[in-house]
Amino acid sequence: MKFFIDTANLAQIKEANELGVLDGVTTNPSLMAKEGIKGDAAVLEHYVAICNLVNGPVSAEVISTEFKGMVEEGKKLAALHKNIVVKVPMIKDGIKAIKWFTENGIKTNCTLVFSAAQALLAAKAGATMVSPFIGRVDDSNWDGVQLIEQIRLIYDNYDYKTEILAASIRNSMHIVRCAEVGADIATCPLSSIVSLFSHPLTDIGLAKFLEDHKKVNG
Ligand code: G3P
Repeated sequence: MKFFIDTANLAQIKEANELGVLDGVTTNPSLMAKEGIKGDAAVLEHYVAICNLVNGPVSAEVISTEFKGMVEEGKKLAALHKNIVVKVPMIKDGIKAIKWFTENGIKTNCTLVFSAAQALLAAKAGATMVSPFIGRVDDSNWDGVQLIEQIRLIYDNYDYKTEILAASIRNSMHIVRCAEVGADIATCPLSSIVSLFSHPLTDIGLAKFLEDHKKVNG
């Protein structure tokens, strides 16, 4: 499974990349706002800065909600860097735009997906990736991982090539459960990636090895 980091914070992207397990980045307008980025030019510059940090797909979201605007914005975003994947919301015009981008060789990530029906539409339009928000599904008292499982089954039934990108990850167990049910990618906050390392028995075992090594050396 590929690991993406879900942030627009350059320091966190750098830290995750240095761990050697990072395959890409996802951003969204909320994450850009969190970094205090102001103005369209600054947003575009920030995407380029992210692309220069990571050798992998970087999702950059369109703001328009109608077909023509999405296509214009997406073309501009895609021209910024070869790593850019245009993130498009799951709405009617979004699906039309994804179809257009697919036919014109621009990679897409269909975002704000909360049902298997929506994921099916994204795959039919040729989306490169689909982003089911599993944490927000859990928050609504449904089962986010079960949604991933359902999408996996449907995509495998018809051999759809759209990659399932599990988003809105809240913890390391989400990542492990997504891997169990066959998500292609998990996009995670840095904290969830880092917590994958943790196990108390690793800490206890290492402390004992180091203590015993001291005995070996008198
Ligand atoms: O990639 C989508 C993700 O950023 C949404 O996460 O935590 O806002 O539900 P969250």
